[in-house]
Parts: sequence; structure tokens; C-alpha cells
Amino acid sequence: MEQPQLSIDIDRLMARIEALAALGSLDATEGTSGPDQKLGCCRLALTDEDKAGRDLVVTWMKDLGLNVATDGIGNVVATMPHSAGTWEPGTAPVMTGSHIDTVRTGGRYDGNLGVLAGLEVIETVQSAGIQLDRPLAVAFFTNEEGARFAPDMMGSLVYAGGMPLETALTVQGIDGAIVGEELERIGYAGAGPLPGQAPHAFIELHIEQGPVLESEGLQIGAVTGVQGISWNELTITGQSNHAGTTPMSMRHDAGYAAARVATFVRKLALEFGDPQVGTVGAIDLHPNLINVVAATATMTVDIRNTDEATLKLAEAHLGIFLEQLAHSEGVTIEVRSLARFEPVAFDPDVIDLVASAAHSQGLSVRRMPSGAGHDAQMMARLCPTAMIFTPSVGGISHNPAEHTDVDDLSAGANVLLSVLVQLASSTP
Ligand code: HGY
Ligand code: MN
Ligand code: MN
Repeated sequence: MEQPQLSIDIDRLMARIEALAALGSLDATEGTSGPDQKLGCCRLALTDEDKAGRDLVVTWMKDLGLNVATDGIGNVVATMPHSAGTWEPGTAPVMTGSHIDTVRTGGRYDGNLGVLAGLEVIETVQSAGIQLDRPLAVAFFTNEEGARFAPDMMGSLVYAGGMPLETALTVQGIDGAIVGEELERIGYAGAGPLPGQAPHAFIELHIEQGPVLESEGLQIGAVTGVQGISWNELTITGQSNHAGTTPMSMRHDAGYAAARVATFVRKLALEFGDPQVGTVGAIDLHPNLINVVAATATMTVDIRNTDEATLKLAEAHLGIFLEQLAHSEGVTIEVRSLARFEPVAFDPDVIDLVASAAHSQGLSVRRMPSGAGHDAQMMARLCPTAMIFTPSVGGISHNPAEHTDVDDLSAGANVLLSVLVQLASSTP
């Protein structure tokens, strides 16, 4: 049955984006980066700010009359009720969604757009009385960012059966908190079964968080997959000593060793060339004092590549470098894996659906891989999955200045609407 031309209500979507962004908002007192600071959010996973965001979105889900279920890792899935359609009870939904937790200096669109656009699509479909053969569902997954508790995409990984719930619940965060205790504390330790029900298909709308679409003047990305991710925590142990009296030949300087790792990671990425990337995002020195040679350095290394064999080679090069560094500086270096995901390819038919939906709405579109990790890469283990990207201004993300123009947000949400309705209208 030909569905009437539907489009989302962008004002309603923007109002929800603003309302959610106000929870955990970074204001001028938080930082020194000026007016942009006000635009940002800090809702680290399972904090009070995350709870406030969850509570608000759950209220919106319930206001739409959706069946809202919370599972054991705190994922929340809201599904159109059986009464709203012609499907049999228990019919697998067409699911969309993303995350509402943020990094410490997050923007207002990363993850939030995918969840709120999913809600907007369902409200649009319900208001128009569109009859579907399958229910639509919108989800937010716990701890996608992995900034407080590793690995990232933790909630969707558990949902997809890639990590036992028991293991996830015992993970300790960078602040010493424990996942299971924090879930109980914020009231999101649910009873929903894990692994979760496999959807009929999964589509995630997300900002690109990179420079490609903007630099090519394009409006939509039909995402072909997600690159491989390798996260490691290094604990470098040297010897604290007096900064003034210790001859350079006698030092076992954890601070210097950490700096050597950071420059090596940059050099490795440049030598491998695109799409290899490498980041040292966190370094903690102890005792972190001006006149003490650092005893220890705890740091993180994030390396990624679209090709698994190349990513493995990069990891091998890093391992050899660390051995040589430990020997030459007389330190020990302990390596702890925080996350390791191979590259994921999305479903060709669903990617085609995204591209054709964009074309039929007169939008410019290109196929492209994702540099960032996403919940969709976990859901691809369960069902045909793909993603829709909208441009990021200046390619900036994980930064309060993160921005996507409202016309692009609207375009992305309307492509999501079209793809979801098509997937939910075709009877098996
Ligand atoms: O790290 C990532 O790619 C994502 O933001 N969790
Ligand atoms: Mn994200
Ligand atoms: Mn992110």
C-alpha cells in the first residue's frame, strides 16, 4: 500500500533535543571555552545526569503510549503497542535508537539525535494513523560512550549477547564506581531478558562526527559499516625521584615514558596512513608534582582501522615498541585491554534502502564507513542493520561546539522515517 508522503515535525524534534540538552548542560562555570561551553552536555553513563536524561526520555516514551521495557544492563526499549497495528503479538519490531549518555565534554546531538528522531518518527506515524505490518521500537542503550566504564557500546553489546550481563555488572569505572551498583542506584536495573529480542531490522540515525559530508557538500551518509576499535590501558611503573638531584642516566621516568608512547602512537598512525588513527586521550601521572620524577603513569591508547589485518599489525607494532621502551627506560609497562571490536559491515539491502530514501527526497548522499563506534555495530550481530549520517559542522564532535544544521537534522530524520516505514510495511 502506497504510504502518503509523511514528514517529521522538526520543531517538535528540536524542542526535545533542547530539553534533553539542558540536563547535564555544561555552562560557563564548568569550563573556559566560552559560549560553546553552554551548548555542551556532561551525562556520563549511570550518573545522576544520565538518570535525569533517562527519566525524561522514558516520560516521552510513555506519553506516546509505547510499551517501555528496561533490561538488566539498563537498556530501555519502547515499542508500539499491539493495538496500534495489524501485526501478531510478539512480531519482531523494526528498531531504531542510539544512546543518551555523553562524554564529559559532549555535544547535544551525539546519540541524542538518534533516540529523539526515533521517538519523533513514531509520533509522526501514530499521528498520521499509518497502518504497519510490524511495530516500530525506539531504544537507548546503556553506556555507549565507554568514557566512564569500558568497553564502549556496553549496553548494546550485552543486548546482542556479546558480553555476559554478569561480567558487565562488575565493571569498575575510572572513578571506582561499579556498573551494577550504579544501575541499582539510579533505578535502571531492569528485569528485561538478555540477550534482547532480535529486531526485524535496526537503523540508527547519528551525526557523522567527522568532516567528510560537510567537505563534500553532502546531506546524508549511507553508512556501510564501522571500523575496528582497539582500546588499551597502560600502567607504566618507574621510580619517583628528586627532579633536581637525580642524574638523567639514573632516571626511570614514567612521565617521559608516557610521552614517548603518545608520540609513537601519532607516528604509527601517520606512517600507516588513512584510515589508521591513534589517540592518547588520558594520562594520569603520580604523584604529578613539579619536582618529582613520576613514579607511575596510567594512560589510554585508542587505535582504529577499517581493516582488521592492518589494525592487528598496528597493535603488534605498539607491543614491540612498549617492550623496547620498558627496557630502555627501566620501567615496567602493564597492558590491559579495555575494548576490542573488529570492523563491522552493515546489510547491503538496508544500506540501499537508506540511499534510495535519500535520493527520493532529493537529498545528496554517499556511502561511507563510520570512524566512530555505534550501537548499530552490535545490533548488526542480531539483524539486518545500517546507519544514516547527517553532516557535522567543522567535523567537530565530543566537544561542546558539536553542531548540525537544523535542515540537515530534519533531512536525516525524514530519511529515518521513510526507511523505518518501508521496513515495517513489507510483510515477510
Ligand atoms: O568511541 C567511540 O567511537 C564512540 O563515541 N563511543
Ligand atoms: Mn554516539
Ligand atoms: Mn560519542
